[in-house]
Amino acid sequence: MTIKIIPVDKSNIFEWRSSVRTVFGDIPSKEVVIRMVNERFMIDYDNWNKPSDRLIAAFDTDSERIVGSGGADKYTITVPGGENIKMAGIAYMGTLPTHKRRGIFSSMMKTLHQQARDRGDAVAGLWASQSLLYSRFGYGLATMREDWVIDTHNTSLSTDSPKGISIRLVDKNKALSEIPEIYEIFRKCQNGATDRTQGYWNYLLYEDEQTKFNKSGRSGFFFAIAYKNNKPSGYAIYNFNKESGVAHEDDEGSLIVEEIISIDRESNNALWHYIFGVELVEEISFNRRGTNDPLYYMLKNPRKLKRNIIDGLWARIIDPIKMLESRTYEESGKITINISGQNQDDIEGTYTIETDGKNTEVTKTNNNPDISMRPSELSSIYFGSVRASEFYQAGLFDIKNHDILRKINKMFSVEQSPWCNTDF
Ligand SMILES: CC(C)(COP(=O)(O)OP(=O)(O)OC[C@H]1O[C@@H](n2cnc3c(N)ncnc32)[C@H](O)[C@@H]1OP(=O)(O)O)[C@@H](O)C(=O)NCCC(=O)NCCS
Repeated sequence: MTIKIIPVDKSNIFEWRSSVRTVFGDIPSKEVVIRMVNERFMIDYDNWNKPSDRLIAAFDTDSERIVGSGGADKYTITVPGGENIKMAGIAYMGTLPTHKRRGIFSSMMKTLHQQARDRGDAVAGLWASQSLLYSRFGYGLATMREDWVIDTHNTSLSTDSPKGISIRLVDKNKALSEIPEIYEIFRKCQNGATDRTQGYWNYLLYEDEQTKFNKSGRSGFFFAIAYKNNKPSGYAIYNFNKESGVAHEDDEGSLIVEEIISIDRESNNALWHYIFGVELVEEISFNRRGTNDPLYYMLKNPRKLKRNIIDGLWARIIDPIKMLESRTYEESGKITINISGQNQDDIEGTYTIETDGKNTEVTKTNNNPDISMRPSELSSIYFGSVRASEFYQAGLFDIKNHDILRKINKMFSVEQSPWCNTDF
């Protein structure tokens, strides 16, 4: 068996997509694939005439079939201090069950990292279907994800509804013109948030004549936009679980918040008042919230909010110098960090970080390091979701003395916890 990694183009896109979906247990229609090419990949399907430089396939030359798939969408991510760096959004990873455990996934990951480096990306990020898969390639936890369910019979908001914010229910066209602009303001100020293309929005909110009314038992989307001084300042996208019904007070109706994003706290408060005010609902659920979400503190009976915390975005350093220079640090100083231990030779080495907090110079060096850790741990510490001392306590690295640990904790601490709600 010989496996070749080949690019994806118009001739093999359907086989590629069907290989991706086979490992996730469904069969894509031609129409859905074309929509994906146009919207998510932002390639004009009708005029697609050269191979994608972001999508790859593992091709078995014996059977002449695609047996593995992968790709990297184009993103930028906000890092501590507010700079945006280029991120390869790794996705579509799968190896057909007939070809498992022969190193196909590993070689595709290597190719995607190489392509990211050649393009000048500073970091790679992904959402993992299985949390044991990616630390072997140097990925670390960049953001945590909280999934929440609130029993609305037994709690409500303790805050007053703010004055000066109006909420309007809008249709999909209006939503698609106003929501991306609000999101764009938010994500530029949020550590760990990524940008979203218009294609991503179209793809995310797509509804056809059937799904508009029923999405696997749920209603179509509703869009509420908050306006402060007549300017859009926040939005809620939500739908209902209709199977259990919301038409009678004895039914167990559930309102599912797809997303609530605001650019100021008053709009956030007003949108939650709107959501809590929707009647014939027993439960509000919403996923992919940040660990520092203020809603918990806005409830009269916070115990009625159940939180499930799992891994969110995983990040992996692609260009250590670019990445380490792009964030700000909470303390000035100089530290030399060795990254090694996961066979990620493209990034392993020793790096000196010298910073006044805002301006940072990073150099690759042969000097003795102050501390050594794996790429996974540094990728994680970078965004501030985990502190170096937690990894030390977990036994993931050793230290020469506690002063080094205190120093790295202080330098890498963040004013704002990382949060990424763009799943891909
Ligand atoms: C996960 C998946 C992509 C792995 O593909 P693969 O080609 O068999 O992987 P490889 O042979 O390159 O294995 C790479 C390493 O990961 C390990 N590994 C792979 N899948 C694993 C799994 N499900 N559980 C534990 N370890 C796994 C292998 O043992 C191997 O370890 P090693 O480097 O120590 O030898 C494949 O099983 C699959 O498609 N799963 C379903 C879809 C999925 O979960 N995709 C990930 C999307 S985020």
